[in-house]
Amino acid sequence: MKIVSGPASQSLSARVAPLLGCELLKVETKVFPDGEAYVRVLGETKGEKVVIIQSTPTNADFVHLLQLIDACDDAKKVVAVIPYFGYARQDKKFQPGEAVSARAIAKAIDADAVYTINLHSDSVLEFFRCRAKNLDASPLVGDFLKTMKLRRPLVIAPDDGAESLARNAAAGGDWDVLDKKRVTSYKVEMSPKKLDAANRDVVIIDDIVSTGGTIAEAARILKESKAEDIYVTCVHPVLAADAVAKLSSAGVKKVIATDTIEKDVSAVSVAPLVAGAVKK
Ligand code: R5P
Repeated sequence: MKIVSGPASQSLSARVAPLLGCELLKVETKVFPDGEAYVRVLGETKGEKVVIIQSTPTNADFVHLLQLIDACDDAKKVVAVIPYFGYARQDKKFQPGEAVSARAIAKAIDADAVYTINLHSDSVLEFFRCRAKNLDASPLVGDFLKTMKLRRPLVIAPDDGAESLARNAAAGGDWDVLDKKRVTSYKVEMSPKKLDAANRDVVIIDDIVSTGGTIAEAARILKESKAEDIYVTCVHPVLAADAVAKLSSAGVKKVIATDTIEKDVSAVSVAPLVAGAVKK
């Protein structure tokens, strides 16, 4: 087995290869004057099981993934690990005439098997033409939280969609979900459903932090509830535009994420999860 280091997942690929004792194949990339992308896998893939690790937060990353799969056309088997699969949130037509973007992208991926991590919706798995499996990084996030010496920690999901993440990351500790109540037609109030956040360190967890709007709102409410330090954790740190500044202004002390997207906040590696899945 060989690991191909996709340009968007180079650090993660370099962490996975030694866990499996596999050769790591580097990738040369360049952009032609007209903007077209070029990739070349540096090393032998003929007759091998090849695992390409490449997240797709941008359109260019997606094109690189397609090119890498094509470049490995002499391999015995091509496994695409897509730690962050972009476009997963457009998994249905919300309005007539819209593209189901997750389907359009998934259908184009011509691999023998696909692994994703904490896909926004499991329904996206059905769009792939090959066997596709979704892995869960929340226990790894939970392991990291245990090392943080938090005071009476409470893990909170900002909505029902993130409930299982909160439960897993709490790892037997306290967790809760924020409840939205419409007070008037203009006013919505949010508070934890079961537990009081006062005088506790709170960790807000979500699958994706993109603009930071969802979490900033949750952080403000928890500050008003007299929570102590507020931390934010997520699997996929998209962190678009001024998301980090927005979270900091909302009173968030630190953001902790995984390396499905490689950012400064990527303190938790999903490498053991990926290595465990692809070696089977
Ligand atoms: C939405 O359903 C997701 O689980 C996240 O809550 C959402 O993508 C976060 O987006 P933003 O950071 O832009 O509020």
